[in-house]
Amino acid sequence: MIQKQDKIYVAGHRGMVGSAIVRRLQKEGFEKIIVRTSRELDLRDQQAVFTFMEKEKPGTVIIAAAKVGGILANDTYPYDFLHDNLIIQDNLIHASHQTDVEKLVFLGSSCIYPKYADQPLREDSLLTGELEPTNQWYAIAKIAGVKLCDALRKQFDRDYFSLMPTNLYGPGDNFDLKTSHVLPAMIRKFDDAKEQGHKPVTLWGSGKPMREFLYVDDVADAVIFTLQRKMKKNLYNVGTGKDITIAELARKIQTITGHKGEIIWDTDKPDGTPRKLMDVSRMKEEGWSYTTELVDGIEKTYRWFKKNREIIREVRFERTEEKS
Ligand SMILES: NC(=O)c1ccc[n+]([C@@H]2O[C@H](COP(=O)([O-])OP(=O)(O)OC[C@H]3O[C@@H](n4cnc5c(N)ncnc54)[C@H](OP(=O)(O)O)[C@@H]3O)[C@@H](O)[C@H]2O)c1
Repeated sequence: MIQKQDKIYVAGHRGMVGSAIVRRLQKEGFEKIIVRTSRELDLRDQQAVFTFMEKEKPGTVIIAAAKVGGILANDTYPYDFLHDNLIIQDNLIHASHQTDVEKLVFLGSSCIYPKYADQPLREDSLLTGELEPTNQWYAIAKIAGVKLCDALRKQFDRDYFSLMPTNLYGPGDNFDLKTSHVLPAMIRKFDDAKEQGHKPVTLWGSGKPMREFLYVDDVADAVIFTLQRKMKKNLYNVGTGKDITIAELARKIQTITGHKGEIIWDTDKPDGTPRKLMDVSRMKEEGWSYTTELVDGIEKTYRWFKKNREIIREVRFERTEEKS
């Protein structure tokens, strides 16, 4: 079991998920949290990763670093999404094994499951059918990461395992309308429209699809939970196990932002898959459940958005510049 003075390396600490994990570890009193930006340590550089791991020798590694993006980005840069993610996770997982890291948590997402798998999505539906073609590049890399951890569990009895969170939102989210996910995009649209005198807000699709959302601090909570015990299985879904329609989500965000205008549904735009819900019984059996209800989480995220509004664009821009 992990101790407060143990060295923990959080890869991807500036991302939405990594920063929530670091905040939580600090709050819990962990004293030796190691972090590196992508500029300081490019995780695609195998030699640099090995040198870093040899020098720092963390006892625990949390992999929240990945090349992440929406459908358009995946579709436009398939090679980057497949290659960068394969190499980032392979470097980290292999170097962890080589340097005798005791515990490793690998983060992926629900896109690893087949497109037509039964809902709610169970962990054992992995590799039982076709993937969603638009993000297959990212999904295949993540599946390889899950299997790499599995192989190390099987061959070397390593305590390395994977957590697959559902759609996440919260502080540090991406509010850029060109690349953001549905929830932060709605916060931004409703807030912008309110500021412009309660103009109508146009949203994509019919509003009928159902989606599940988890507040990012709850993922951090799940990670801390898993660090404190030996996990029995190789793979766990992390979610709420509850979903709502996109139209209900829009109404909640409209109320929270105080927008009083009309909502227009642009039904010429695609709806995407009708339902995406995780089966969370495996984590429940281990003793973990989410705590932040959707309205509370959106309120917290909206407060963060308002407070950081001026810097959000610059932070993203600076990060994009750094990577180019
Ligand atoms: N966001 C979601 O809704 C969601 C849902 C389910 C699962 N997840 C999973 O959670 C993980 C993190 O997602 P996120 O939303 O936090 O992503 P994010 O905000 O884009 O952050 C990703 C992090 O990865 C780091 N990174 C990327 N390429 C790197 C490289 N070559 N070398 C070093 N670091 C690199 C970046 O570091 P720098 O900032 O230093 O450049 C960045 O901080 C991913 O595995 C994702 O699949 C996310």
